[in-house]
Amino acid sequence: MPSPRDASPKLQAKMDEITDAVNRTIARLLPETDLPEAPLYDAMRHGTLGGGKRLRPFLAIQSAFLFNVPSARARRVAAAIEFVHCYSLIHDDLPAMDDASLRRGQPTVHKQYDEATAILAGDALLTLAFEVLADPETHEDPHVRCQLVKALAQAAGGHGMVGGQMLDLIAENDEVEFDVGEISRLQRMKTGKLMAFACEAGAILGKAGEPQRKALCAYAHDLGLAFQVTDDILDVEADPQDTGKDTRKDESAGKATFVSTMGKDAARERAEMIVNQAIRHLHIFENRADVLKDLALYVLQRRA
Ligand code: IPE
Ligand code: IPE
Ligand code: MG
Ligand code: MG
Ligand code: MG
Repeated sequence: MPSPRDASPKLQAKMDEITDAVNRTIARLLPETDLPEAPLYDAMRHGTLGGGKRLRPFLAIQSAFLFNVPSARARRVAAAIEFVHCYSLIHDDLPAMDDASLRRGQPTVHKQYDEATAILAGDALLTLAFEVLADPETHEDPHVRCQLVKALAQAAGGHGMVGGQMLDLIAENDEVEFDVGEISRLQRMKTGKLMAFACEAGAILGKAGEPQRKALCAYAHDLGLAFQVTDDILDVEADPQDTGKDTRKDESAGKATFVSTMGKDAARERAEMIVNQAIRHLHIFENRADVLKDLALYVLQRRA
């Protein structure tokens, strides 16, 4: 489990509260089983319940709070987003992708089980996410449920996270040179889109107006980009005992990152600029979005 705590005590308390609530929801949606296919469920639980900062659930729950959405609904949507995120990590760690052995301070799913089980656990988490969103317990209005399903599919699919992961792999090729604009697009897709969905989901659940929805999406898109830039900085300067995952892997894999193109210091400056831009998008919410502003600052300071 990552140890360093870099959030302010107030933000950390909120993050801990949301982590506990979402962990309970995830555990309820993913009970242990003694069916013959139990190893699949064990692997899904291993990939979802063993730590993580729960940042995307935090975004969903805080965005839903802006529109007075009942917390049980927000928690279900938060769990669905975390299922997609965890599936993306399980597949990202596979030998065919980043070939990582440590995640959230534990062996990656394919190391703990095997590759085939890890692929299936990821597949089952992705589909479970949509099952949760489509359930009337998430929202009684089928139109709201359809909007959630469509928006998550767009954020997670070929024009979103999966498309970004493809670009990430293409950029490993020595013959391919990505410029800063192309790297920004890659990172907004692989990391920003799912974070943007987390915020948009709060607005969808609360039937918020277009300006609020757009402002939250713009905030989260920038936050996602800055978050990925700090992830790339942590890859070069942090230790696995702090991050809970393998570090110093991006350079040898030939990843295209802000750090590889402009160096660590310029990348940090760029992340600061993007975070300030993210915060400016929230002005229409006045002080009701202060927690989201604090979160953006935490993204710059985090050490895990
Ligand atoms: C890791 O995400 C993958 C990236 C998009 C950089 P997180 O850093 O949010 O991972 P967890 O959920 O806290 O483990
Ligand atoms: C992965 O980015 C983003 C995903 C969509 C899973 P990274 O490959 O940099 O994430 P880490 O460093 O393994 O967590
Ligand atoms: Mg990767
Ligand atoms: Mg990786
Ligand atoms: Mg990384």
